[in-house]
Amino acid sequence: MEFQIVTGSVEALETECLIVGVAPEAQLAPSAQQVDQASSGYLREVAEDHQGKAGEALLLHKVPGVKAKRVLLIGLGKDDERSDRNQNKIIKAIMAQLKAIRCATAVVALDGQESADQDLYRQLRHNTEWASAELYHYDTTKSKKADEPGLQSLSFLVAADDAELAEFSISDGTAIANGVDTARELGNLPGNICTPTYLADQALALAEDCEDLTTTILDEDEMEKLGMHCLLSVGKGSSEPSKLIVMEYKGGEPDQKPHVLIGKGITFDTGGISLKPGAKMDEMKFDMCGAASVMGAMESLTELGLDINVVGIIASAENMPSGHASKPGDIVTTMSGQTVEILNTDAEGRLVLCDALTYAERFEPETVVDVATLTGACIVALGHHATGLLSNDDLLADDLLAAGEFAADKAWRLPLWDEYQEQLDSNFADMANIGGPAAGTITAACFLSRYTKKFRWAHLDIAGVAWNSNGKAKGATGRCVPLLCQHLIQQVDDLADDE
Ligand code: BES
Ligand code: MN
Ligand code: ZN
Repeated sequence: MEFQIVTGSVEALETECLIVGVAPEAQLAPSAQQVDQASSGYLREVAEDHQGKAGEALLLHKVPGVKAKRVLLIGLGKDDERSDRNQNKIIKAIMAQLKAIRCATAVVALDGQESADQDLYRQLRHNTEWASAELYHYDTTKSKKADEPGLQSLSFLVAADDAELAEFSISDGTAIANGVDTARELGNLPGNICTPTYLADQALALAEDCEDLTTTILDEDEMEKLGMHCLLSVGKGSSEPSKLIVMEYKGGEPDQKPHVLIGKGITFDTGGISLKPGAKMDEMKFDMCGAASVMGAMESLTELGLDINVVGIIASAENMPSGHASKPGDIVTTMSGQTVEILNTDAEGRLVLCDALTYAERFEPETVVDVATLTGACIVALGHHATGLLSNDDLLADDLLAAGEFAADKAWRLPLWDEYQEQLDSNFADMANIGGPAAGTITAACFLSRYTKKFRWAHLDIAGVAWNSNGKAKGATGRCVPLLCQHLIQQVDDLADDE
């Protein structure tokens, strides 16, 4: 499927489906008015039967005076109710109609009224990302594949003066959408296919397609030599070997410090000896969604072609119980030299991330952002809408919050005060890996903070947003690829501002 920008007069567009907008009380958007004129008032008459609610759809055939085969009249909602949410609803409704009628081409001519944005770039980028997301369909492990989507090109009608910016926007939107698709696909794959080795192979394949990207895989022996005993302790019960996946993107000057992204890649989390209850345990195949979003963001980055250096690191293991598995009370030495008492083998994400964070030091990073489905407590705190954000640097935190707002992939900051640190005290090691029932998301981040003293760092807990649990919507969401991409785009803009 291709996105395109078109200009010109709306009635002359040759397409299988022309999409125009109507607000409540039959208020036709400008392009709809033009169609109305071309059809000698036909559209206005029909619009009387349309309430103009956001996403409400009315498909019309044989509209007189226009070249388009069909006209889809889509509700825009009230002017003062424009929002990212409503825009998303409108795009979803359009895509549902286009899928149902199986047309190959369509043109969206909503004059920007589907969105609260004054910013054409942001508005069209979201249209592109969200339309693309509606076309994602998982059937990799089904014996019968779905029919190819009929839609081959979706165009947006813009004023001629805006065409250049619009092209730029759909190009960025496509790059981000592709990263989101990759993250969703990796997330949705089952644990018996998507193993640490599989993730490593995907990262190698990604580098093959891109000159600026190199992937290095560290196996267990290499990690052992580096002293990553904490990461290795997680995979000890599994027959799948653990991997540290390092993807280096060099788009900037050779001496420019990189931004590092680190993903939690637990390809299945049984809890280990601290075994999880059986209900919904299948969903722990999604415990590599942090890794998936880093991989997705790296793919987007290669397509965005940003002029910065970025290192993506994935700490991957399978958390299983067995005679070889770590036991509650075991003590391991991390790569940093600090020791950890593993009081609960189900708090494994932080155990793999801490060594990856220490490993990141060698890149002398400008910033480090880790992404992880780290705590159930984050779902209690923020539900399924916001990513949890914790950071040792206010500027970085603000940058990520702004990126989340811009990308409509929102995060919300939680405190990382020293008061919480003592919940990790251990009688037998430098720290315990759990901090008790209170403030679980914060104490998990406190644990990570002990491995981030040498750089500006932020932690994104995506436990509540990485996948949907319900019915037909069950599956990975691709969050927070848009946030990460926007964060990286902002880093390039910051560099440009400095010059
Ligand atoms: N992967 C889980 C967190 C999780 C659970 C994410 C459910 C999404 C849905 C993580 O490894 C975990 O088990 N965390 C424990 C930590 C606890 C033992 C301190 C948790 O949240 O219960
Ligand atoms: Mn766990
Ligand atoms: Zn986990």
